[in-house]
Amino acid sequence: MPDTRLTSMAVDRESMIPPDGGAAGSLPAWAVASPTTAVIGLQWGDEGKGKIVDWLAARHDVVVRFNGGANAGHSVVVDGQRHALHLVPCGVLHPGTDNIVGNGVVVDLAGLRGELDALEACGVDTTGRVWLSERAHVVMPWHPVEDRLYESAAARVAGAAAAVGTTGRGIGPCYADKALRTTAVRVADLYAADRPARIARITALKNATLKALAEVAATSFDPLDAAAIDAAVAADAAALAPRVTDTARRLGDAVANGRRVLYEGANACLLDVDHGTYPYATASQTTALGIGSGAGIAGGAREVIGIAKAYQTRVGAGPMPTEQVNAIGERLRERGREYGTTTGRPRRCGWLDLVLLRHTVRLTGATRVALMLLDVLAGLPSLKVAVSYSLDGRAIDAPPALAEDLARCEPVYADLEPFDGSLEPCTSVDALPAAALAYVRFVEAAVGVPVSIVSVGPDRAQTLLR
Ligand code: GDP
Ligand code: IMO
Ligand code: MG
Repeated sequence: MPDTRLTSMAVDRESMIPPDGGAAGSLPAWAVASPTTAVIGLQWGDEGKGKIVDWLAARHDVVVRFNGGANAGHSVVVDGQRHALHLVPCGVLHPGTDNIVGNGVVVDLAGLRGELDALEACGVDTTGRVWLSERAHVVMPWHPVEDRLYESAAARVAGAAAAVGTTGRGIGPCYADKALRTTAVRVADLYAADRPARIARITALKNATLKALAEVAATSFDPLDAAAIDAAVAADAAALAPRVTDTARRLGDAVANGRRVLYEGANACLLDVDHGTYPYATASQTTALGIGSGAGIAGGAREVIGIAKAYQTRVGAGPMPTEQVNAIGERLRERGREYGTTTGRPRRCGWLDLVLLRHTVRLTGATRVALMLLDVLAGLPSLKVAVSYSLDGRAIDAPPALAEDLARCEPVYADLEPFDGSLEPCTSVDALPAAALAYVRFVEAAVGVPVSIVSVGPDRAQTLLR
């Protein structure tokens, strides 16, 4: 069951107080004028995308998830109340928005129902405003089992480093079946007359695969029961039926009618299946390049807001050149509450990596950056950012393709002036301590696009604009 705690939902679009404390008219043009905006994570996830999507959703009509699945965990804090969403777009907290789970998302039906029920229980009316693509692929009960068995079999055969450290949500196996086709189930299939036969056929195949995997992993495995799976799926399909539609068409009509669209990226650029730190990546297109195919729309987004923490975190395995396995890393973890929204795993923490950030800003076409969790750096005795790497005695300024090469990269750090005090009460960027502002400017100069949002706390109100 997803970790969705939603209680006070009295969110009024008009009552959104601009973080600069002024009227909506005082917001910078980029925050009000773009017809299409994307929010994309620039690191290894958990950068604060949920917070910024929620913030921007007040000024958009349609919010669209186009990739990933319930491996995502997007937190929104409203008036001290924390909410965690995994499949439903974060725009749902704003009553005037339409919310789309697009064809590129892999959907855990029971998880989606659980999230919707939790929203309804807290007074969020989701009827007629949360839509599910009939072309989205379904995360079936065998997928999480397969995900975990592949991980443990890989670790057993080739050592712990062979496992990706997935969220165990069945994401990789579901996208693999999408590519394989004969073992895939799409939302539209749930309503087809041959559904029981399809599920029986795939269950038989999966039981054979899972049995073999379990043997390699030296673990036990209870065969899946096709009839029980079909009955559960039938109930989920009936409950979700009113929401299932051709979302690409709905979105296309919205764009044609001048409605403002916000794309909510899940996971993040360094987890992209093509451009991330492969194979320590997720299974979908996580950059703005994935919007077209994952939402079914041409043209992408005019504004691409790249979301980056003021430092680096990662959950799961894989190279992380600036990781600090020491008191600095522990302090970042505790101050930033760096524990996974989806799995609760402690996040690996380290200094901001500008080599990777330059790479992902370029890759995703970020037009501006939101620098998040700057408050977490306050009070550190020293402050470093990686500006380049050294690999085999050579200086390099872009990540190498092989994960094992990235793991061998030695970061070259710039020392920046630390800053003290609490940033949470700051209501404008100009009110930040001089050294904190210098940090923001250093990042901006390095990545070559404006840092237009600085976040100094989890709450909606703790969002500073430039
Ligand atoms: P997402 O997956 O990118 O949406 O990010 P998560 O929600 O998984 O993780 C980000 C965490 O940072 C959440 O707990 C947020 O509430 C929190 N957060 C967001 N912005 C800030 C900030 O500026 N300061 C602090 N201290 N926490 C923040
Ligand atoms: P949000 O949207 C952080 C990571 C997993 C693992 C790798 C593959 O909340 O930022 P998967 O289950 O996708 O096959 O796992 O990708 N991962 C994330 N890490 N935030 C996420 O999403 C992530 N989605 C996937 O930890 O290392
Ligand atoms: Mg997250």
